[in-house]
Amino acid sequence: MTKTKNSKNHKEIYLPMQVRVLDVIDLTSDTKLYRLEKPKGFFYNPGQFLMASVWGAGEVPISVTSTSELHDDIELCVRKVGAVTSAIHELKPGDYIGIRGPLGNGFPPEEAYGKDILFVAGGIGIAPLRSLINFVMNQKKKFGKTALVYGSRNPAEVLFVPEIIKWKAEGMDAIVTVDVKNEECEYCTGIVTEHLTRQKISFKTGHSYICGPHVMIKSVMRDLSLMGMPPDNIITTMEAHMKCGVGKCGHCYADGKYICTNGPVFSYNEIKKYNFNNNP
Ligand SMILES: Cc1cc2nc3c(=O)[nH]c(=O)nc-3n(C[C@H](O)[C@H](O)[C@H](O)COP(=O)(O)OP(=O)(O)OC[C@H]3O[C@@H](n4cnc5c(N)ncnc54)[C@H](O)[C@@H]3O)c2cc1C
Ligand code: FES
Repeated sequence: MTKTKNSKNHKEIYLPMQVRVLDVIDLTSDTKLYRLEKPKGFFYNPGQFLMASVWGAGEVPISVTSTSELHDDIELCVRKVGAVTSAIHELKPGDYIGIRGPLGNGFPPEEAYGKDILFVAGGIGIAPLRSLINFVMNQKKKFGKTALVYGSRNPAEVLFVPEIIKWKAEGMDAIVTVDVKNEECEYCTGIVTEHLTRQKISFKTGHSYICGPHVMIKSVMRDLSLMGMPPDNIITTMEAHMKCGVGKCGHCYADGKYICTNGPVFSYNEIKKYNFNNNP
């Protein structure tokens, strides 16, 4: 995977910067969007992440969901699953949160110039992809067709609905699919892999960007490869248990790679043999 240029915003790699929470928006029952003050000159690439910390609770890796070129703030979309994410969920506008980063390599969208793009997201996996999708939609003329397949457990858990409507209005072919739906709901049903072939993009030359649970990533990568997409064009971002986020502690080390520094973005070629059962 080509390394995107990492910004040198943060010289002290272990010391968090304290930034102000500007706004907190409830997206679903367990997921909130945080708008944070962006320090002067702070730049990040789609797919990079931050180590976000709350004093006394700990530090966790969270992808940046905003897009550097388009947003004056830094946006994080956080699902409450345990101790640290619960502490983040207690934060109110005006509070401070620690951030280290931006970390990791990020997506390589320039490799898809002139080509069709398929985004595939599952659950909270839409958060890192949103940064890339807005980056691509902002300079859509440089790319071919754009398509999205986004799966969620139920209609109430679908994130960023107004933006999905906007992306559709801008020409994206978007399919939202849920496991269970009520009668009035306009979404499709079924898992994302059931809807991949419905997208009318060139699979042989196109690029795909995938984020979601590991079981979904594994199936989508395999299916796209079988549909003829070159393994170097099938790109995902991986989750792993992390502590330092900068390639020092070894917590995220798997199959010869540090997910935090060699990734979290990898091509299918790079992780074909990865044991997806190793990590969350
Ligand atoms: C590069 C990267 C980007 C991420 N981006 C986001 C994001 O944008 N939004 C978001 O809500 N979450 C994101 N995560 C997942 C997030 O880091 C975890 O949910 C968080 O570390 C859980 O910490 P906790 O203390 O709240 O829960 P814990 O008490 O530590 O764990 C609660 C549950 O979450 C699982 N878990 C713990 N750490 C991780 C992890 N790193 N990945 C997946 N599951 C984990 C545990 O196995 C356990 O089942 C990202 C993870 C990585 C590695
Ligand atoms: S989290 Fe420490 S090496 Fe990756």
